[in-house]
Amino acid sequence: MKNLTRILSALLLFSLNSYASDDLAEGKRLYNEACVSCHGVSGETNADMQLTVKPRKLKDSILSSSQMAKIISEGGRVYGAHSDIMPAFKYVYEKKQIDSIAEYVSQTFNTKRDAKIKKLLSKSDAKKLNKKKMDKIGKKIFKRNCSLCHGIKGDGNSIYVEESKANKEFLYPYDLRKTILGEDQIFLIVKFGAHYWGADKEDMPSWKKKYDDTKLRSVANFVKTKIVGTD
Ligand code: HEC
Ligand code: HEC
Repeated sequence: MKNLTRILSALLLFSLNSYASDDLAEGKRLYNEACVSCHGVSGETNADMQLTVKPRKLKDSILSSSQMAKIISEGGRVYGAHSDIMPAFKYVYEKKQIDSIAEYVSQTFNTKRDAKIKKLLSKSDAKKLNKKKMDKIGKKIFKRNCSLCHGIKGDGNSIYVEESKANKEFLYPYDLRKTILGEDQIFLIVKFGAHYWGADKEDMPSWKKKYDDTKLRSVANFVKTKIVGTD
């Protein structure tokens, strides 16, 4: 009986694995067809691309496979990107195909993400504050710093952004009302900056020298609870 169970579970694992590798092979084929020209063979990004917003280094992305699938499907703009350069592929591929591309990216070159997030969160020494206090700190920091680029409503429009276009130093801050990110991810992007997570430039700076984790947590919580979903 024990043996039989062993054989059955081995068979089951075998069939699951071969299904998964079929899917990954399909993901790889589609990635090489549709993404490689911008994001590079291993998600390291094609640096020669003459685009105002450079493609993300997908090998360093903070996004989970299912979050990636949403962005691949709908395009970057739907989730707050300021440009339309990251296209929507739902007009080209079926959902299952898009899922296989996202899995391929996650399992072949964005492989360190989970461990990295876990380690960085475990090192955070943010103190637990009550919601009212968090809101107060978060709002103050948002107004003082973040609104310069993301705008007072978080929609990604500000005078500073307009001026940057006039000066040809294009700034493309996200419309944070539409971000796909969870609070932990917002905290980690604010703490380490977007470059650390695959953005080309240092336009979204790291705030870890200016604020401690308790303050950064408060601003992340403020974005997630007071800005996301408003308009
Ligand atoms: C024309 C170039 C171009 C093509 C083709 C393209 N992308 Fe992108 N992609 C971009 C740019 C530019 C961004 C950054 C958008 C921004 O921040 O405004 C991006 C962002 C992304 C993101 C978000 C990453 C993050 O960490 O926020 C994912 C995921 C992504 N692309 C996956 C793909 C996949 C998979 C394909 C192929 C199906 C693809 N892209 C095709 C240019 C492209
Ligand atoms: C100098 C301009 C600037 C300032 C100030 C700034 N940001 Fe950003 N932010 C950006 C840009 C530009 C991006 C897009 C990523 C990139 O290109 O670096 C971005 C991206 C983000 C993202 C990622 C959104 C997504 O869906 O991927 C979050 C979250 C964010 N900013 C939050 C904040 C918060 C909170 C503050 C204040 C502590 C802040 N930013 C201050 C320019 C700025």
